Amino acid sequence: MTAGAAVETVRVELANRSYDIIIGEGLLAHAGDYLAAVLTRPRVVIVTDKNVAGLHLATLRASLDRAGIATDAIIVPPGEGSKNFSQLEDLLDQLLTLRVERRDTIVALGGGVVGDLAGFAAAILRRGVDFIQMPTTLLAQVDSSVGGKTAVNASQGKNLIGAFYQPRLVLADISALASLPERELRAGYGEVVKYGLIDDFEFFEWLEDHGGELLSGDGAALRHAIAVSCRSKAAIVARDERESGDRALLNLGHTFAHALEVEGGYDGSLLHGEAVAVGLCMAFALSTALGLCSSQETDRVRRHLLAMGLPVGIEQINLPELTAATMVHHMLQDKKVIDGRLTFVLARGIGRTFIQKDVSEAAVKRMLAATAAVPAHE
Ligand code: GLY
Repeated sequence: MTAGAAVETVRVELANRSYDIIIGEGLLAHAGDYLAAVLTRPRVVIVTDKNVAGLHLATLRASLDRAGIATDAIIVPPGEGSKNFSQLEDLLDQLLTLRVERRDTIVALGGGVVGDLAGFAAAILRRGVDFIQMPTTLLAQVDSSVGGKTAVNASQGKNLIGAFYQPRLVLADISALASLPERELRAGYGEVVKYGLIDDFEFFEWLEDHGGELLSGDGAALRHAIAVSCRSKAAIVARDERESGDRALLNLGHTFAHALEVEGGYDGSLLHGEAVAVGLCMAFALSTALGLCSSQETDRVRRHLLAMGLPVGIEQINLPELTAATMVHHMLQDKKVIDGRLTFVLARGIGRTFIQKDVSEAAVKRMLAATAAVPAHE
C-alpha cells in the first residue's frame, strides 16, 4: 500500500465477516489501493454529506478513478436530523434509481450520521449489499464506524430502528481530522475516554498525560488513541457482536446521553460526544451514590473531561426544562431496558465497569437531583 506515514491495522474477528480497520494519514488519497482488494466488482456509490463532500469527495473519487473503480455520489444534509426514516427512504430511492446491485458496494464517507444511515440502507437494500466505512470524525473513527451497528432515530429515542450489519472494511484517515471543527474533535474525545474508563486504566492515565496533544491534532497521539480504542472495541465486538452481554459495556454513559439528546431534539445544539461526556460523569456519580465507586475516582473522571473542555453536568448544556422525571422517562426507551427495568453500566473504579440490571428509578432520580442540578419534581 502506498500511504506515506505509518499505518496501523486492527482486525475485527467475526469468522467469515471479519474485516480490517486501517488507521493512518492520507488514506483517502490512496483509497483505491485499499478498496481494490475487497470489492466484489469495481463499482461503488459514495454516501456523504454536504460538508464532507466539499472537503474530501474529490480526493476520494480521484483515487478510486485511478484504481479503475467507477463511482456515483449521493449527498445527504449534514447533522443528526438526517438520521430519520424519511431521509432513509430518500437515500434508498436514490440507490435504487442508480440501480445499485448486490455486488456493488456502498461507501459511507463522513461522521456517525452518514455511517449509521448509509450502513442501515446497505443492510436492507436488496436484503443487503456490501458497505465500507470511511469515517472522517474522531467519534466515528473510534466508535460508530466499527462493530456494525447501523440505525436511524425515532421520535421516541435514538437509534431505535436499525440492524447489526458489519462493513467489509473501515478506512480511518487521520488527516481528515485536521478539517474537523474543534468542537467536534473535542466531542469525539468523549468516546475515546470511554475506553479507558471501561477496562483500561493505563489508557486513561495515558489520556490524562497526552489528551491535550491529541486535541491539538498531533498525528502520533491521534493514531495511538484511535488504534487503542478500535482494538478495545474490536475485542468486545468479537466476543459479543449482537450485544447479549459484554458489548453493553460500550454503552457506558450512553443511557444518560441518549436521554439528553432526545431532550435536545437532535438539532445540533448538543453533540453526541458532549452528551456522552455528561453521561460518563453521571454513570460514575450513580456508581458513587450506590456505594460502588469512590468519590475521588468520580472526581478524577470529571476533572479530566473538564480539562479537555467537555461538559460534565446539566448546568453546562442548554436544557433548562429538563427534570429527573423526564430523564427517566426517556431512559425507559433504552435498548438495555429489561421488563421495564433500567439497566446501567456502572463502575467500581476507573477501568472497572460492569453491567447492573434492575437499577431503581428512585436511586437514579436522587443522583440526578443531587449531582446534576436537575430538578427532581415532575
Ligand atoms: N457504540 C456502542 C456499540 O457499538 O456497541
